[in-house]
Amino acid sequence: MAPLRSVSELASIIEHHTQAVEEGLKGTPESEFSLAFGAPLQIQVPPSLEATRGELLETIDELRARLLGPLGYLMATVLPTPVLTGVLHVLHAFDIASHVPLGPNAEISYEELGERCGLPEDDTRQILQAAIAFRIFAEVTPDVSVRHNAASSNFAVPAMKDMLGLFVDEQCGGACKLVESLQRFPGSGEPGHAAHVLAFREAKAIKEGKVVDRDIADPSKGLFDYMADDEERVARFRSAMGVSTKSLAYRASYFIDNLPWADQNQCPGTVADIGGAGGEICQAILRAYPNVKKAYVLDLPEVVAGAKAPEDLEGRIEYESYNFLAEKVTREADVYVFRHIFHDWSDQYAAKILKNLVPALKKGSKIWISELVLSDLSDRNHTKDQMQRGADMLMKFGHNAKERSKRGWETLLAAADERLRIASITRPDGAHDSVIEIVFDA
Ligand SMILES: C[S@@+](CC[C@H](N)C(=O)[O-])C[C@H]1O[C@@H](n2cnc3c(N)ncnc32)[C@H](O)[C@@H]1O
Repeated sequence: MAPLRSVSELASIIEHHTQAVEEGLKGTPESEFSLAFGAPLQIQVPPSLEATRGELLETIDELRARLLGPLGYLMATVLPTPVLTGVLHVLHAFDIASHVPLGPNAEISYEELGERCGLPEDDTRQILQAAIAFRIFAEVTPDVSVRHNAASSNFAVPAMKDMLGLFVDEQCGGACKLVESLQRFPGSGEPGHAAHVLAFREAKAIKEGKVVDRDIADPSKGLFDYMADDEERVARFRSAMGVSTKSLAYRASYFIDNLPWADQNQCPGTVADIGGAGGEICQAILRAYPNVKKAYVLDLPEVVAGAKAPEDLEGRIEYESYNFLAEKVTREADVYVFRHIFHDWSDQYAAKILKNLVPALKKGSKIWISELVLSDLSDRNHTKDQMQRGADMLMKFGHNAKERSKRGWETLLAAADERLRIASITRPDGAHDSVIEIVFDA
């Protein structure tokens, strides 16, 4: 455990790091650090300051927690949980953000906003004022009128609405079913026993006026299989994922730029991206590394059907239908890439995906994975741990799956094939995911 620093020591670190970040952003629109309407949505610091900003946020969080004291901290953490769940759910269900005029000085009375949204004025005021307390919207005249700030205006953007919907309709339902999932299916790694699936089945039964069938006939059927029947939900999920991958910490460039392929001796001639979806990663690889002659995107038939190579990559990219749980890989390639695949699956399924790849590997073959590697919990890393362990819990709710630490990755590789070993793990500063290099030592 790291030695306890005094609060004034924390404050001086905060002052020092704040000045460094402020200086680094001088003259840029981000340098105001504002949440007001129209402010930049993300604060992008120069790469040399990523670590400083990380430490600054961490130190602020520690100082706040310690100033609150144990009980104060507990209350400040527990109280917002049901409050935000309820408030965000109403913001989404009544599409409140879309009814507030957009503009730096555009305001609306609670009375009129309530009329537009179909909510009584008093309820509108109560909900909005709770949201404002969490820095979503801004009040103009106390108790009378409200306007957007930069955070709330996001919720009027269709893709962000989808992300909010995904959280309040899907994830919150899943979170509330975790206890049931753990009680009914202890130790299960089956996707069909996941909390989110239980919530989904119950909501569907209620909607159809039926009694939920407690017997889960096929537990290998996961959330996406259930969702597949509902086009709107699938579209919302895709749209929401599109937003999360645009956030700075998830930039694909962290992965692409950290592949050692600028060195011609290390650059593969062919790459296969397994579960490669629309081929965004392959396309970025081909553009960044001209020595990669060809890339293959392997995904489920419905995903690759109709996929086309962009004009500038004509002849260098191919889409192939492949089911990683059911088929051995037959596509030969110098390296195989997996991005955001394994965390959707428990070890029993993730090992199956790797086992299906092994027959295609030769001595020295490489697998490159872009995914989170959980850090050991640390007293100096709570904000990072909250993001990482939060992602881990979302995988648990959704798929009975998990994020993995280095030890977790090693356990998975050992379960799949003893010839697979981790050669390196790199986490670029500011990135959520690591770049994991795996070698097949035949
Ligand atoms: C979370 S997405 C990741 C997509 C892409 N790798 C990326 O980083 O954007 C998971 C991908 O796995 C694919 N997938 C799910 N089950 C699959 C299966 N059984 N066989 C092949 N691909 C599958 C999905 O279609 C989806 O494209």
